[in-house]
Amino acid sequence: MKKTGTETRQKFSVGIVGLGAYLPKKILTNFDLEKMVDTTDEWITTRTGIKERRISRKNEPTSELATKAAREALKEAKLSGKNIELIIVATVTSDMSFPSTACLLQRNLGAMNAACFDIAAACAGYIYAITCAQQFIAAGIYKNALVVGAEELSTITDWTDRNTCVLFGDGAGACIMKKVPKDRGIISTYLGADGREGDLLILPGGGSAMPPSHKTIDEKQHFIHMRGNELFKTAVKKMAGAAAKALKQIGMNSNDVDCLVPHQANVRIIKAAARRLGIPEEKVYLNIDRYGNMSSASSAVALYDAYKEGKIKRGSIVVMTAFGGGLTWGACVIKW
Ligand code: ACO
Repeated sequence: MKKTGTETRQKFSVGIVGLGAYLPKKILTNFDLEKMVDTTDEWITTRTGIKERRISRKNEPTSELATKAAREALKEAKLSGKNIELIIVATVTSDMSFPSTACLLQRNLGAMNAACFDIAAACAGYIYAITCAQQFIAAGIYKNALVVGAEELSTITDWTDRNTCVLFGDGAGACIMKKVPKDRGIISTYLGADGREGDLLILPGGGSAMPPSHKTIDEKQHFIHMRGNELFKTAVKKMAGAAAKALKQIGMNSNDVDCLVPHQANVRIIKAAARRLGIPEEKVYLNIDRYGNMSSASSAVALYDAYKEGKIKRGSIVVMTAFGGGLTWGACVIKW
């Protein structure tokens, strides 16, 4: 089997040693949405696979969800905040432009020995963040990292637009990464992007290109604008392609995969990507029915749920793959 650069240089690998997740308590069902916009439970279920999603409380910003998920991951890894050397939060719904959500999380955890930054890679953010953390640890710069995918898409959703408001939800997932024995851990990663197609999924307002004004608010520029239909095929192609490339880099193929943990944007996208990869449905983890699309938090919570539900065991080959705004995509292969 071909080895990755990291494996050949190092006597150790980098793996996940603790997982956490937090979902807000409030549930918004498809039947609730029927009362808000011109839609039906039947349309949402058949077109997306979503039945319900979680919505955060008014005074419960993204950093709060991140903190709760992180505390659980720390507990499982038997570490406290002060042991953590790097915090990366993947989010496109940070509490504010700055401080970063990673810094707010650091403060909440008392993780004063950590370097902190956010990554904005939309739905692929958790895989981008895992890849970054892996590189820092493999290079010997930090001993460990707390990686979080946390989002409150409810705060950037136009609740009068049936094209988008049925899709999104809030949540957070976290993992602790550190050195593990050489035959385990993150054994391959692959990242990609195409900025030329960024307009297909965009939140245009509020940044330096379009500073907030009454006009931008009246024009609903602070909400997600998505050309879902045009994204659909690219999502299938990129999610399958990223997973195939991450496997090929280490001489593996889809037959080696025990559990595929895909980004949960649409059940039809997931099933089409799995078919393209040749991975049978029973090996594909799905929780989109309960949470909808939580952007970077989707992969994080899906990995957590798949593990807690016993779909991932010691020795399992797990493939995570994701696609999102940017456009961005990525995949990683983990030997559990
Ligand atoms: N209820 C009822 N009808 C609806 C709804 C709704 N909630 N939403 C749209 N429709 C209608 C449309 O108006 C359209 O009607 P028309 O034919 O009269 O114009 C019809 O349903 C079909 O619309 P399509 O857009 O063709 O529906 P499609 O089958 O493509 O499903 C969806 C839409 C679910 C958005 C799908 O395209 C999708 O999942 N796309 C990919 C999303 C994605 O992967 N995003 C990237 C990750 S997200 C991130 O990074 C934050």
